[in-house]
Amino acid sequence: MLFNPKIVSFALAACVALITTLSVSLVESRPEPLLVCGSLAFASSSVLIYSALEFLVFREIKKIYSVIDKVKKKDFKVIRDNLGNNANPLRKLNEEIFAYTARKQQEIDDLKKLEEFRREFLADVSHELKTPIFAAQGFIHTLIDGAVDDKMVRDKFLAKAAKSLDGLDALVQDLLTLSQMEIGAIKMHRERVNLFEVTEEVFEQLEEKAASRRITLKFAKQTDTQAWVRADPQRIFQVMTNLISNAIKYGNENGKVVVSFITDKDYVLTSVRDDGQGIPPEHLKRIFERFYRVDKSRSKDSGGTGLGLAIVKHTIEAHRSKVSVTSKIDKGTTFSFKLERDATLVRIG
Ligand SMILES: Nc1ncnc2c1ncn2[C@@H]1O[C@H](COP(=O)(O)OP(=O)(O)OP(=O)(O)O)[C@@H](O)[C@H]1O
Ligand SMILES: [Mg+2]
Repeated sequence: MLFNPKIVSFALAACVALITTLSVSLVESRPEPLLVCGSLAFASSSVLIYSALEFLVFREIKKIYSVIDKVKKKDFKVIRDNLGNNANPLRKLNEEIFAYTARKQQEIDDLKKLEEFRREFLADVSHELKTPIFAAQGFIHTLIDGAVDDKMVRDKFLAKAAKSLDGLDALVQDLLTLSQMEIGAIKMHRERVNLFEVTEEVFEQLEEKAASRRITLKFAKQTDTQAWVRADPQRIFQVMTNLISNAIKYGNENGKVVVSFITDKDYVLTSVRDDGQGIPPEHLKRIFERFYRVDKSRSKDSGGTGLGLAIVKHTIEAHRSKVSVTSKIDKGTTFSFKLERDATLVRIG
């Protein structure tokens, strides 16, 4: 109560009135003028001191309390205008505290998210590594325990152990590629590449896989065969391989995978379309995350680790672009991305 602006200003105004009256009494001894002088000094200084305290100090202190309240409720929606030019030091202090707290809170939230992500990632990696290691371990122990004497069993188990270890190798390679891309250790060696030719090679390589599901790999009718871009040929080969092999894996048996290139002035738009089961909308945002699978058991059966799309995303981002996906249940899925068009082509042809 003592720090109520009214009480403080009345107390200070009384002091000012007393000092003024005492000073005037040195030259004027009549009581009336002294009384008038004292009253005027009291009235005017109480109004002035009250306004100064209320508007410059107490109002700002109240704001500091309301900011503390907001901080407690994590409500950081405040417009901070001309922080640097504010003449009132209390207001400036208030805004500085608010900005600092908002920044720190954001950092804490980011760290919590990172911690959560790290925990999930460690659990996923251990799980994925465990599966092939356990399988290979099982086959080898069975061989040691005597199965090695039977030639048929030995060859079969050795082949299975080797397959598990190949899977493990592929997984570790993918993880290494991803982490190196994330820290920027892999530089893209961009050169002039025709995406059409790259895709023809990918088609050739995946021909058998597609045939096993009776899927046709083809280019769209209106595709541009001169899809020249500036990109890292090996990395883009990997991107196209991952997208097309996904389209084969998750596409319809007897269906088709259609690739198209549309060339614009500055870029080439690539799309890979399948007519498979599609991806439910709630999964669409997450499929580019490491180890994320829509249907865990199904994609595992087809030998996936859930890293293919994460590699696609990082590679395309390293080419300063973005991958997008659209999908309709039971109709199919289309992945697309743009790459910078190679300008030298314009002159050549
Ligand atoms: N064309 C597609 N149609 C339907 N679902 C898809 C398609 N492409 C990807 N998905 C879904 O997204 C998930 C993630 O794909 P991603 O390529 O990253 O992993 P994967 O194919 O399971 O394994 P990997 O590519 O590492 O062998 C898949 O498990 C699958 O559920
Ligand atoms: Mg895949």
